[in-house]
Amino acid sequence: MKTTSVSRADAPATAPETGADPQARRILVWDAPVRVFHWLMVLSFAGAYLTAESERWRLVHVSLGYTMAGLVVFRILWGVVGTRYARFSDFVRGPGAVMRYLGSLLRGRPEHHTGHNPAGALAIVALLALTALVTAAGWATYNEIGGEWLEDLHEGAASLMLAIVGVHVAAVVVSSRLHRENLVRAMITGRKQGRPQEGIRSAWRSVAALLLAAVLGFWWLQWQGAPDAGDGAATVSSQVAAGRHDGH
Ligand code: HEM
Ligand code: HEM
Repeated sequence: MKTTSVSRADAPATAPETGADPQARRILVWDAPVRVFHWLMVLSFAGAYLTAESERWRLVHVSLGYTMAGLVVFRILWGVVGTRYARFSDFVRGPGAVMRYLGSLLRGRPEHHTGHNPAGALAIVALLALTALVTAAGWATYNEIGGEWLEDLHEGAASLMLAIVGVHVAAVVVSSRLHRENLVRAMITGRKQGRPQEGIRSAWRSVAALLLAAVLGFWWLQWQGAPDAGDGAATVSSQVAAGRHDGH
C-alpha cells in the first residue's frame, strides 16, 4: 500500500491509492454547487463557442458569456466559504507541488489527491481567470468601447481557453485511467473513493438550487428583454417571439 505525501497536517489532501486501502469507501467530495457550477460552465462555454461567429446568434452568445462571468463570481465566493474540497486553500498549490505531482505521474506512481490535484488546479485557476478576461473584452467589444485590439484580445483569449479546456479534458481522461476512477462520473455524483472521515458532510443542495434558479432566471430575462425586431442581434429572439404569437 502506498501513502503519498500530505501537504497540510489539518487537512490531508492526499489519500492512499484507490483500491489499495481497505478503509476506502465512496465518499462525498464535490458538493452540489460545485457540480452545478461545472456543468453550467461546460454548457455555456460550448454554447458561447458555437454561437461566436454569427451575428444572428449574438444575443445568445453574449448571454452565455455573462452567465459564465456570473458563475465565476459565484465560484470565487464558494472557493472561500464553500465545503472542504471546493476551497481554493485546499487545492491551489505552488509550483513545487505541481512539479512534484507531474514527477510522480512520469514515474508512473501518481500521488492520489482526494480533491483536485495540483496540476489540475492550475488549469482550473487559468480557466476561471480567462473567463473573466474573455467576458470583459467581449463586453467592451459589444459596447463598442476600445478598439480592434479588444476584439482581438477577446478572440485570442477565447482560443487559449479552448486549448486549456482541451488539455483539461485530456488530463481528466488520463487521470481517470491512472487512478482507476471515473472522474467525470465523480463530477456528476460528487462521490469518489476515500476514507470515510475525509468526506464532506453536506452536499449543500439548496445553494445549488439557488444557483441554477439564478441562471435560469437570467436566461429567461434575456429572452424576454430581447428586442422584437431590427438588427441582426435580435433576429433569433424576434423569430422565437413570432413563433410564440403564432401559437396563441
Ligand atoms: C465535456 C468537457 C469537460 C469535462 C468532461 C470536464 C470534466 C471535469 C472533471 C472530471 C473535473 C474534476 C477534476 C478533478 O477530479 O480534479 C473538472 C473540474 C473543473 N472543470 Fe471541467 N470538464 C469539461 C469542460 C470544462 C470547461 C469547458 C470548463 C470551463 C470553461 C471547465 C472548468 C472546470 C473547472 C473550473 C473545474 C474545477 C471545478 C471546481 O472545483 O469548481 N471544464 N472538469
Ligand atoms: C466566455 C465566453 C465567451 C467566449 C468563449 C467567446 C468567444 C468568442 C469568439 C471565439 C469570437 C470570435 C468569433 C469570430 O471568429 O468572429 C467571439 C466574438 C464576439 N464576442 Fe464573444 N465570447 C464569450 C463571451 C462574450 C461576451 C460576454 C460578450 C459581450 C458581452 C461577447 C461579445 C462578442 C462580440 C461582440 C463578438 C464579435 C466580435 C467581432 O465583431 O468580430 N462575447 N466571441
